Amino acid sequence: MFGHHHKGSAPKDPENLVLQPRNVTFDWTDLPTHWVPNEPLVTHTCNVLHLLLPAGERWFIDVFAQAVPLIEDAKLREAVVGFIGQEAIHARSHQSVLDHWKARGIDTDPYVQQVDWMFRKALGDRDLNSSPKHREEWLIERLAIIAAIEHITAMLGNWALNAAALDAAGADATMLDLLRWHGAEEVEHRAVAFDLFTHLDGRWHRRARAMLVTAPIMAWLWIRGVAFLFRVDPELGRRVKPRWVHFFWAGHRRLLPTARQLIGTTFNYARPFYHPSKEFSTSQAVAYLATSPAALAAEA
Ligand SMILES: [Fe+2]
Ligand SMILES: [Fe+2]
Repeated sequence: MFGHHHKGSAPKDPENLVLQPRNVTFDWTDLPTHWVPNEPLVTHTCNVLHLLLPAGERWFIDVFAQAVPLIEDAKLREAVVGFIGQEAIHARSHQSVLDHWKARGIDTDPYVQQVDWMFRKALGDRDLNSSPKHREEWLIERLAIIAAIEHITAMLGNWALNAAALDAAGADATMLDLLRWHGAEEVEHRAVAFDLFTHLDGRWHRRARAMLVTAPIMAWLWIRGVAFLFRVDPELGRRVKPRWVHFFWAGHRRLLPTARQLIGTTFNYARPFYHPSKEFSTSQAVAYLATSPAALAAEA
């Protein structure tokens, strides 16, 4: 796990990849409540993405937009603009799942409002006595947090692209396409937040610290998110609660990332000479995007 890099047989990753937003839309009319059949824990663990990402990715965009004027590298600026375009459509697409649920009487507002508060207030712009130095420090701190989250989204994206067990379990094709289209774009732009942080600061201890703070908070949000979704799930009895044994069992069957993978990826990122280009395959991501039903429909 530690120091495990993507290697070997995959074709060499394309250079000078231009990040393009794909204007996808998804139709949730036929989405079953448990879109991985008979797997409420797997379904809702994946569903937490819909709770966190609309608010989270909009926050990325706000913070990145503030950083654009500080960038002194034309290629990086172009990548950041491409990143912003992709994240905007990610946020919108996950939001569309929440809207679908709401139309079906499943209200996620109580949870989403807390997530929203966290991103917009706790992690929002602060009045730092208008000192430009303090404002820039707070911006860079948030860029370090975004780089850490982007490492996690790239890891999850790579996982989704390779999760053949979800197909075998009969997971809903539209939802799988959402996860893989998004996952592929996360793999595509996995170095952008890292490179932006490096360009403006890049201190290792700061990057490592941001991950060591971010990862437990993400885990806590995820656990609470799954518990929330179990409570509002109309097809589960009131007394049905998520259980850790089901999480470990799902990981064992490759229906979710394993705890070992999740912890390993955190520490891997905290290593001094880590760079996102050292793991995951851009070629695989680009290949998926060339066949993704949503991406193809967006192109047509
Ligand atoms: Fe995203
Ligand atoms: Fe991203």
